[in-house]
Amino acid sequence: MKMTYSMEALELQKKDALIVFAQAGEVLLGSANRSLKKLITEYIKTADFKGESGQVAVFPTFGKFPAGNMILSGLGAPKDFHRALLEQAAAAAVRAGRKAGLKTFAISACSRVKSVSDSDYRVIAGRGACWGTYAFERFMTAAKKQTAPTLAFAGQCPDTAAVRADLKTAAAQGTALLGTADLANLPGNEAAPAAIADWARKMASANKLSCQILGKSELAKKGCGGILGVAQGSAQDAKMIILKHAGTDKKARPIILVGKTVTFDSGGISLKPGKGMGWMRYDKCGGMAVLAAMQMIARMNLRVPVVGILGAAENMPGANAMRPGDIIKARNGKTIEVLNTDAEGRLVLADALSLAVEMKPSAIVDLATLTGAVIVALGSAASAVIGDDQLAKEPTKAGADAGERLWQLPLWKEYSDEMKSDFADISNIGKTGGAGTATAGAFLRAFVPEEIPWAHIDIAGTAWLESGKPYQGPGATLFGARLLAQWVASK
Ligand code: BES
Ligand code: MN
Ligand code: ZN
Repeated sequence: MKMTYSMEALELQKKDALIVFAQAGEVLLGSANRSLKKLITEYIKTADFKGESGQVAVFPTFGKFPAGNMILSGLGAPKDFHRALLEQAAAAAVRAGRKAGLKTFAISACSRVKSVSDSDYRVIAGRGACWGTYAFERFMTAAKKQTAPTLAFAGQCPDTAAVRADLKTAAAQGTALLGTADLANLPGNEAAPAAIADWARKMASANKLSCQILGKSELAKKGCGGILGVAQGSAQDAKMIILKHAGTDKKARPIILVGKTVTFDSGGISLKPGKGMGWMRYDKCGGMAVLAAMQMIARMNLRVPVVGILGAAENMPGANAMRPGDIIKARNGKTIEVLNTDAEGRLVLADALSLAVEMKPSAIVDLATLTGAVIVALGSAASAVIGDDQLAKEPTKAGADAGERLWQLPLWKEYSDEMKSDFADISNIGKTGGAGTATAGAFLRAFVPEEIPWAHIDIAGTAWLESGKPYQGPGATLFGARLLAQWVASK
C-alpha cells in the first residue's frame, strides 16, 4: 500500500474515503477538522454506531466534503484500550472500504489516542491499513486481482521528517507482513521445509540478509537428532534455515530469534484426532513471524546484528517415524526420551536453540506454536512468555508498544522436575500432564545455559484465526513479528 504525507487538513482531502477513529462515543478528530467532526457526530446520533472495537461504518458525505465517503472505525472504551485495537481498527476500516469499492484513503497524520505517541500511531495505523488490504486468494481460481489502494496521512505536523520516516517504517513492516502471510497461509502440501527454505533464500537476497540452509546430511553431521527425529516419519526432509542481518554495530554480539517451523503437525505416531487437524498447517507460524521480523529488521536497517533460525520439519506417522519411547540425542549432547511424538516442536527447538547458543548471542528469543495448554490459559488475547525474568520484560514491553500482548508464566524448579526421565537426560512430556505451557518452557531451558538471556513465547493461541474478524479473514496473524521488530529497534 502506497503511503504519502499531505499537509492539507483531513477534511480537505479529495479521496474516496476519510478514515476516522472513534473511542466509544468520542469521535477522534482535532480542531482542524471541526466541520467534519460535526457531520460525524450528527451521523452517530441517527445511526447505531457505538464506537465499539470491530465496529465500522461507511457512509457518503453527500458533497459536503471533497472526499466521497467517511469510514468510522471503533476503538472501544478508553479503559479497555490496547494498541492491537488501533491496528485492527485501521485494518477493519480499509477492509470495509475495499468491500465498498473504495481505493484512495486519507487518515489523520497525528495521534488522537491519548496513550499513543504520534510516531507510534503512524506506524501502527499505517501497518494496520496495509494489513487490511490482505486476502489469501492464491487458490481461488476466480478471484480478481484488485488494484493496490493508497493512504494519505493528512494534517500539519511539527516534524515533517519524522512523519516521512514513520511512513517508511510502516510501509516496510506492512510489506514484510503481507509477503510473509502468503507463505504462512500455504497448506502443508505447498509449504514443505524445502519450499520454505527456497522462499527464505529469495527473501534474504532481496533484503541483503545472508542465508544458510542446513539439509539432512549437514544436520546429521552436527548431531541434530531432535529435528531429524521429527522429520524421519515424513517424506519431506528437514531444513534448518539461518538468516543473518549484519547490522551496523560490528562489535555487538547478535540477538538470535528462533522460530518453530513445523510445516504440518499430524502428531506423528501419537496421532492427533482428525477434527481440526487441518489447522496444523499453521504450526510453522513461529518461523513465519521470525521471517517477517528479519525482513522488517533488514528494511529498517537496524543497528544490532540479528540472526534468525527456523527449524523446519514435517511431523508425520510414516514407516520410519519415531516411536513413543524412542530415545534421541540433541545437538548439545543431551538425550531425550520421546514419550509423545506430538510434543515435537520442543525437539526441533532443542537443536535450534543449541545452535543459537554456539553463536555466543547477547540474547535468544524463540517463538513457537508449542502447546494447546496456552490456549486454555490465555485464549487468543495474549501469548505466554517464559524465561529469565529480566529478559522476559523486554519483549513484553515491546509487545505492549507494538500491539502484541504477552503474559509471563513462571519457570520454577517444580516444572523442570516434571520433565525428568527414568531412561534419558530429559523426557519430552511432563509426568503429571499439568502446566503444559510452563513444563514445555522448562524443557527448552535445558538447551540454553543459565548465563544466556533467553525467553520463549508460546503463540499457539494467537498465531492464526479460525474465523474471520472485521480486521482480517481466517488464517495467519503473524503474531510476534511486530514485537520482535519493535524489540530489536529498541536495542
Ligand atoms: N503444535 C502443537 C500445539 C498446538 C495445539 C498449537 C493446538 C496450536 C493449537 C504441539 O506440537 C502439540 O501437539 N503439543 C502438545 C504437547 C503435549 C503432547 C505435551 C499439546 O499441546 O497437546
Ligand atoms: Mn504436536
Ligand atoms: Zn506442533
